[in-house]
Amino acid sequence: MPEYQRHEHDVLVIGAGGAGLRAAIEAAHVGASVGLVCKSLLGKAHTVMAEGGVAAALANVDDRDNWKVHFADTMRGGQYLNNWRMAELHAKEAPDRVRELEAWGTVFDRTPDGRILQRNFGGHKYPRLAHVGDRTGLEMIRTLQDYAIYQPIDVHMECTIVSLLKDGNRIAGAIGYDRERGRFKLFSAKAVVLATGGIGRAYSVTSNSWEYTGDGHALAYNAGAAVQDMEFVQFHPTGMVWPPSVRGILVTEGVRGEGGILVNKEGRRFMFDDIPENYRNQTADSEEEGWRYTQGDKNARRPPELLTRDHVARAIMKEVREGRGSPHGGVFLDISWIRSKLPNSEEHIKKKLPSMYHQFKQLADIDITKEPMEVGPTTHYVMGGVRVDGDTQMSTVPGLFAAGEVGAGLHGANRLGGNSLSDLLVFGMRAGKFAAEYAGRQTAPRADTQQADDIVRVALEPFNRQGGQNGEGPYQVEHDLQAMMQELVGIVRREDEMRRALDSLKALRERARKVSVAGNREYNPGWHTALDLQNLLTVSEIVARAALERKESRGGHFRDDFPEKDPSYGKFNIVIRRGPAGEMQVTREQIPEMRDDLKRIIEENK
Ligand code: FUM
Repeated sequence: MPEYQRHEHDVLVIGAGGAGLRAAIEAAHVGASVGLVCKSLLGKAHTVMAEGGVAAALANVDDRDNWKVHFADTMRGGQYLNNWRMAELHAKEAPDRVRELEAWGTVFDRTPDGRILQRNFGGHKYPRLAHVGDRTGLEMIRTLQDYAIYQPIDVHMECTIVSLLKDGNRIAGAIGYDRERGRFKLFSAKAVVLATGGIGRAYSVTSNSWEYTGDGHALAYNAGAAVQDMEFVQFHPTGMVWPPSVRGILVTEGVRGEGGILVNKEGRRFMFDDIPENYRNQTADSEEEGWRYTQGDKNARRPPELLTRDHVARAIMKEVREGRGSPHGGVFLDISWIRSKLPNSEEHIKKKLPSMYHQFKQLADIDITKEPMEVGPTTHYVMGGVRVDGDTQMSTVPGLFAAGEVGAGLHGANRLGGNSLSDLLVFGMRAGKFAAEYAGRQTAPRADTQQADDIVRVALEPFNRQGGQNGEGPYQVEHDLQAMMQELVGIVRREDEMRRALDSLKALRERARKVSVAGNREYNPGWHTALDLQNLLTVSEIVARAALERKESRGGHFRDDFPEKDPSYGKFNIVIRRGPAGEMQVTREQIPEMRDDLKRIIEENK
């Protein structure tokens, strides 16, 4: 019989990035007893990879900005598949959440008259991203962490959750293990908030670190919750491509926001070649106009490098495929060219983009104030996730909430840069509040030990296999899965390739069922990988099935065999649930009719 360390909380928050921290803080404010589980050390989170800023219509740099423009931009960016109620709440509440963060200690960059400075980012009509150089996510995590440790929150670090527990239909807690010693922990909780981030490790080129194996997506799906929009994976246009050891590391969109341009090996600024119809009247038609925009000229229009990420990533891929890429399979991102415009450009770049300067100097021996960077798309974010109620963030399983990247809805088919940080503040806060209020109305659930014992038995199976079929360990299977997803369900998709992906996934599942690990439960990364692999397989299959179902191209989902947008696909979300026999059930669920006042806002901002 396994032994458990037992913990009891009103609200258990799984994941301690920005959304998890914000949810835990709010639940504690409401008076709930709160447990906060981090897979890694507190403060190590993908939130730090949102470098360039947090989007909020503060209107500090351009007074034409307001929540309505932000709402319309977010809906247009998401190609109208967004949960419009979430887009409305997000645009309305983001400014308060940012100001609150400032009051808690975030040291934002400043305008000359002392207000929070805001910069341009793709798809945002006005300079909207409040920032701290190019370390905004890091500063946000620092602030939230400093604030949270003074709240009555029990932090469980280096703990991986392997399953949620249920009492009948409702959530009852979770079971996990501490990564150091491998001891199992049984958490009983009246409400659980998932804030586990994304699925980037399902791909071989990604900005995500090792933690992001789709845990929350898989936990929710296995617990019977609906997930939606999983075909929409965001490939951030600019990741490092060279040297190979750093491939995928993020190069912030802030570089383009500060005037960086994309050029191919012929030195041509290819982003001017193809401007999407719905952004044509907002895009500069000369290099000069684009530059003036980045320097704050209110009469100028944005340079094409600041079109939405889906579009920019595909344009880069096109240059590479057609032989006009850089030596290592990317294109050039050049900020050093601004020396022809600004006499103090070197100092200016180092001030605005300090992390990028050091990142390239140290990792690639490139001085970005003098030479261009080589960049290419990197898997960065998943727009899809757990289907939630827009106001409360509760999923389709009573007592299970989701916030931040693991939740779906706000971003629709494509997320605008900087909306991730405001998302996690707005909906982290809401999830924490509503989870605590929900917990306050519940009696203690029964976290059944038999359920937990069965989960533990399965989790320990890799130790009991005598060398597996070919003595295969989990790393090779994980590697093959990532390479397969990159190739067959990546930026450009086709029916035949995705069918091959599903066949491969079946074979990979078989291999995963047989992997064995050596040693014991203490400090055993092989065992951790064997468990993570199950989640990666689940989310990869969900992505592939959703992508097969959407026979059109929209936002982050591009089908080579259906390259156009099909208006009939703009009316529903693709939703996936676990069927009674463990099969994946794919359905189409109608998007509720938008309120008339919101429709008018979109019309006015067209
Ligand atoms: O490019 C960036 O700084 C990333 C921001 C984001 O993903 O929101």
